Amino acid sequence: MSKETIQTADDVLTMLDTLLKEQSRFEWDQFYTDRNKKIPFLKNAPDENLVEYFANKTIRSGHVLELGCGPGRNAIFLAEKGCTVDAVDSSSEAIQWGKERALERNLAINFLEKNIFELPQESTKYDFIYDSGCFHHIAPHRRMDYQNLLNRTLKPNGHFALTCFVEDGQLGGSKMTDYDVYRERSLKGGLGFTEEKLRRIFADFQVIEIRKMRNVEEQEHVFGVSGLWAGLFKKKG
Ligand SMILES: C[S@@+](CC[C@H](N)C(=O)[O-])C[C@H]1O[C@@H](n2cnc3c(N)ncnc32)[C@H](O)[C@@H]1O
Repeated sequence: MSKETIQTADDVLTMLDTLLKEQSRFEWDQFYTDRNKKIPFLKNAPDENLVEYFANKTIRSGHVLELGCGPGRNAIFLAEKGCTVDAVDSSSEAIQWGKERALERNLAINFLEKNIFELPQESTKYDFIYDSGCFHHIAPHRRMDYQNLLNRTLKPNGHFALTCFVEDGQLGGSKMTDYDVYRERSLKGGLGFTEEKLRRIFADFQVIEIRKMRNVEEQEHVFGVSGLWAGLFKKKG
């Protein structure tokens, strides 16, 4: 039987992955090869909201999973706060850079080069899951997998936080419906969200806070742009 024959719901999801990928020329590995790019999130500084969660003790050190960690700026902050960190990204360039940054600071971080949807089914239970800028690159048909991943790997009463594009924000955030993604076979550089849409997608969680990130000056040692949402959620017990 042809490998393009659809038999299961999984086959439909794989087909949608393939159709989107066929249309895209973007590669994260290529993006990370130039480490001197003037891209704000390439600076080795943690998200201002993440720093605030620790400062106001909403989040305390524990076992953390970071999804789409890139070169590790938030994983490094979490490790410095005494967390045990598993940091996952599918880009080998990002993981290599993250390992180098961690080594420079003598930090032990468990960097994993993996697609977040290929983490072991029998996963560790985490106190906190963090995602800075990965979720808006996830196609709508994979959101169920994303939610399953959170449900499967977070401890009861564990926290989940993300930053993601505001619709038409200053860093991007395409204002398109989920259907449009498939009509146009593109996420247009990353999907934008409204607060209402985030509340709907993460309706199984208790919302602690959804706010725009604070705009941070260049010289500050944190990262923040008001074109990103910062959402903090808690898994119901
Ligand atoms: C905008 S970058 C953010 C990187 C990092 N979190 C930061 O803020 O510096 C998004 C990252 O998500 C990763 N990514 C996207 N989809 C992924 C997936 N399905 N599994 C693992 N990593 C993924 C990309 O490789 C990229 O490094």
